[in-house]
Amino acid sequence: MNSLEIRTPDDFHVHLRQGPAMAAYAARTARHFGRFLAMPNVVPPLTGPAALADYRRAVAAAVAASGYASTPLACFKLVPGMGREAVLACAAAGAVAGKYYPAGSTTNASDGVPEPAAVADELAAMQDAGLVLSIHGEDPAAPALDRERAFLGVVDGIVGSYPRLRVALEHLSCAESVRAVLAWPERVGATITAHHLSYTIDDLLGGGLRPELFCKPVLKSAADRAALLEAAVSGSPRFFFGSDSAPHPPEAKAAGAAGCYTAPVALSLLAAAFEEAGALDRLETFVSVSGARFYGLGLNPGVLRLSREGWTVPAAVDGAVTPAAGRTLAWTAERI
Ligand code: DOR
Ligand code: ZN
Repeated sequence: MNSLEIRTPDDFHVHLRQGPAMAAYAARTARHFGRFLAMPNVVPPLTGPAALADYRRAVAAAVAASGYASTPLACFKLVPGMGREAVLACAAAGAVAGKYYPAGSTTNASDGVPEPAAVADELAAMQDAGLVLSIHGEDPAAPALDRERAFLGVVDGIVGSYPRLRVALEHLSCAESVRAVLAWPERVGATITAHHLSYTIDDLLGGGLRPELFCKPVLKSAADRAALLEAAVSGSPRFFFGSDSAPHPPEAKAAGAAGCYTAPVALSLLAAAFEEAGALDRLETFVSVSGARFYGLGLNPGVLRLSREGWTVPAAVDGAVTPAAGRTLAWTAERI
């Protein structure tokens, strides 16, 4: 197959940052995706309706200036002490999700949640409002490669304690998480990134260290990657695309920041991974259908065409280094 047309996809997990760089990151995502869920770990964090609405307006303005038709979806950051009323006000301001970062788990998460009991009222409010609880599922106290597995019990407790709460476990990185998601009720879904479907820890550090592949959760083994790929191509409505595209300027990466800037290459990586699995015909379900259904949204209008036209990824895109920098990728993507 040399070309494939799919319904315009969505990205249900992306970091667009703030300040001067945000417009370029927003435009890059808008180029390929009809909707995107913008993560709230900016500074100060998006923990109330006014900040949330201001951020979404700024992102929407950047998208409009880019000329691509794309809609930002809003997500607030859950912090202890936020309170039920603030959660309901965020929902009224248009939030579709609230993000649970275990305290200290990743970029700008020192003010996150120490334990679910610290946000019990907020979780109950999210359940009542029909919001999706988006979870960064890592226990920062566990060894780096075990952090996701170590947090599954906490997720299990939340799923059991809030029987109507919809939960999206973000950026799955290991086989145990795939099994856990399938064992939970259907109101629990999960995103999988293009980098976790494409690379392993050996790509990150088995040869020369490749900081552009360093993210949280850290890339895992070939067997873990195989389990993620199997889940993504399965057609199960539980698994859908969230890029976790997370640009950092070169000086931050050099200082050890976690994050892969995949927005420019995500669809090329996904097409290659699905092709490797002999499942290009399931790509549309994963990127354009299952996430929309999980979030209760209609499907996007429009079409994205993937063509087998090799392209060489520039050394830097929008001032950030992408995972495939300097390499040739088989598939290009273009909205038509
Ligand atoms: O690698 C990551 N980068 N993982 C996250 O969870 C956050 C993100 C960021 O914001 O840089
Ligand atoms: Zn993220």
